[in-house]
Amino acid sequence: MSDLKKIGILINGGDAPGLNAVIRAIIKTARVHGVESVGFIEGFKGLVENRFIQLEGNPLASGIIQKGGAIIGSSLNTNVFNYKVIEDGNVVYKDMSDVCVQNLRDDGIDCLFTLGGDSTQKAARDLSLKGIRVIGVPKTIDNDVAGTDMTFGYNTAVSVATEALDRLHTTAETHNRIMVLEVMGRYAGWIALESAISGGADVALIPEIPYDMDKVVEAINNRKARGKNFSVMVVSEGAYPKGGDLFIKGTREGGEGVINVQLGGAGEFVAREIEARTGMTARNTTLGYLQRGGTPTATDRVLSTKYGAKAMELALEGKFNVLAVLKDGKLDSIPLEEVIGNNKEIGAVEGGTEESNMKTIKMDDDLVKTARDVGICLGD
Ligand code: F6P
Repeated sequence: MSDLKKIGILINGGDAPGLNAVIRAIIKTARVHGVESVGFIEGFKGLVENRFIQLEGNPLASGIIQKGGAIIGSSLNTNVFNYKVIEDGNVVYKDMSDVCVQNLRDDGIDCLFTLGGDSTQKAARDLSLKGIRVIGVPKTIDNDVAGTDMTFGYNTAVSVATEALDRLHTTAETHNRIMVLEVMGRYAGWIALESAISGGADVALIPEIPYDMDKVVEAINNRKARGKNFSVMVVSEGAYPKGGDLFIKGTREGGEGVINVQLGGAGEFVAREIEARTGMTARNTTLGYLQRGGTPTATDRVLSTKYGAKAMELALEGKFNVLAVLKDGKLDSIPLEEVIGNNKEIGAVEGGTEESNMKTIKMDDDLVKTARDVGICLGD
């Protein structure tokens, strides 16, 4: 018999289609077992400020499986171990983790579900070391969380990118142009590579393969020689030329102790270079937040529902401080320690670092082989 009476849900990081479907699945599974569900508003911010809402029986939490965004909001760039506060008009950073622990105890939360990517699960692991029972659910359109086959939100992002490529194809063909699509994904090329395959792109540039522009130009010229006067390219926001640097657009506000760079400009750079070197007209489209917004695909709705139900089951079984994962297509769980890699220090800089266990594309992945088999140039 489980001792669980009340659980809390918290979302951190950029939104991903399927968040509401996870919330719904947790509430429904909890209800069957007589467990009450609450949701912290704006993620870790709400936890620090102890702002939460009842989810069970709340009309806000009804009819949400198809809704994009998140009914309880999310925190961005928030590290509770190094939390930005204004004191006497000055910005100072404080460790608010003990406040979070106290709030959870005062609220009677028996288990906290953390919906997020690698940085979120790092913070969850750190809270678990302070005695909080946590269960992570792998959310991100980037698909870069270690230990799981697929994060929820990813399939929708790939679908949106695929549709964009279909549209770019017709305009590329009409005007004999090179069309570049810059997609998200941070330091992993999953969205780029999968959408390149599904959208029939000619070139895919990903962070895992620093590219050689000469090879890209060669691929376009080879197409031209075969009478194809247009090409469609997908460029990951984290792609960069061999010997070059990442394209950084700016910094993300707040949250000392989190990775703050905002990526952007990789697609535009490639378009300008291609235009200069081939003499063909090249245009870049940056897909941006369209990849994160809106209704989840059926695949993401099912995956999110599986993850939410599994997370609640793990809690009922008393398996805490783990991440619900999909391993070889089956639901499972792994210790949060495995998710965070060598980035062990409590409250330290979070995911997306060399220390973290981020899941990037390995060169023996079937996707890489398939892409090469169908003649997609990977810039090497
Ligand atoms: O991690 C999801 C993601 O959309 C990345 O693909 C992208 O680099 C980043 O978030 C954008 O972050 P922000 O919302 O801070 O602009």
